[in-house]
Amino acid sequence: MSSFWNIWVWVLTLGSLVGCLILLRWCLKNFAGVKEGESMGHSFDGIEELNNPLPSWWSTFFLLTIIWAFIYIAMYGLGSWSGLLGWKSSNQGILNLAESKAKTSKYLHKESGILVQYDREVAQADEKYGPIFKAYAARSIEDLASAKKVDIDFDTKGELTEQQSALLQAKEALKVGQRLFIQNCAQCHGSDARGTTGFPDLTDDDWLYGGSPEAIKETLLEGRKANGMMAWEGALGEQGVKEVAAYVISLSGRSVNPDLAKAGKTKFGMCAGCHGPDGQGSLALGLPMGAPNLSDNIWLYGGTQRAIEASVRNGRAGVMPPWKDILGEDKVHVISAYVYSLSQN
Ligand code: HEC
Ligand code: HEC
Repeated sequence: MSSFWNIWVWVLTLGSLVGCLILLRWCLKNFAGVKEGESMGHSFDGIEELNNPLPSWWSTFFLLTIIWAFIYIAMYGLGSWSGLLGWKSSNQGILNLAESKAKTSKYLHKESGILVQYDREVAQADEKYGPIFKAYAARSIEDLASAKKVDIDFDTKGELTEQQSALLQAKEALKVGQRLFIQNCAQCHGSDARGTTGFPDLTDDDWLYGGSPEAIKETLLEGRKANGMMAWEGALGEQGVKEVAAYVISLSGRSVNPDLAKAGKTKFGMCAGCHGPDGQGSLALGLPMGAPNLSDNIWLYGGTQRAIEASVRNGRAGVMPPWKDILGEDKVHVISAYVYSLSQN
């Protein structure tokens, strides 16, 4: 916290507490010049105003809450002072995960663990659930995903064979994977993983970077940046954009103005290095660089003439964030199994 905000917090908090004290003290004073309980000398429609003090149980409680506030501040701190107990709610001012991890180890309490509450909760959860994720991650992605298709036709509470408990474990792993997906991925890919404009559908078998277990896990661990779909307006001109877009549309068998498409085809050489000579996508060329297949009528950014022209004219640059540092490899393995299972029918 900057020193300005630190002072701001101190002044505002202590100011209000002291203000409350002064107000209470002031309200307890007898300004009326008459004794408590006696008439103030005003009468409205026969209702007389008496000099009634604040009830003492009320003012005592008020005073106690103010005293409690000072004790609380002394224990838990204020602004950037972390109080006599040294408690912290978060690692403030931290910009990246590496810094956060370094601080986590720095804020170790003498005996009882970690001071920062969030770090403490994460450490506790890791201790409790870490071994479970380890056990899931010890099995291959295909192995876990294959449980999707197998029904449970035995009593899960009875004596289980090794095979049966392995099946139960894999089913559980897929369920956990689904929950992790909903927490971490659904905001972009949708809770059913079917994606939306700019965010790929993960349930079909059309892949930008590959749908094998290894490719999916690599995508999740390291993230992906769509590479090189620049804005082509400068190179092609507006007419060129229209022609090339018409050719792209024709690749999936839709009808277009044949003259435009023909002109577009001659320019498509510029695109072929990434999208392939027939627009079949970089994956078909063995390059995991994210250039989509343009001939399958599945569109990341929309398949209308307008959307395709916009893709070519302005370029596109999708980013899939990396999860290795956020979730750790074991959880990524479990989510990978869930994602892989979606396209296995
Ligand atoms: C901030 C939005 C965002 C979040 C959150 C996100 N993704 Fe993505 N993801 C993307 C984008 C955008 C792409 C496509 C990148 C591109 O255009 O090349 C993508 C691509 C992918 C791909 C590659 C698809 C292919 O066709 O090869 C997979 C798999 C994937 N995401 C899975 C996940 C999973 C699992 C999570 C959660 C752990 C997740 N994503 C979280 C935005 C996101
Ligand atoms: C350097 C590699 C590269 C070249 C050259 C290139 N593209 Fe792309 N293109 C990509 C990538 C990567 C994407 C995916 C962008 C994303 O995911 O954000 C893409 C996306 C697209 C899309 C959107 C597809 C969809 O599913 O919505 C269209 C259309 C497209 N390119 C057409 C073209 C045309 C036409 C040319 C030639 C004028 C061209 N591209 C040249 C790499 C390239």
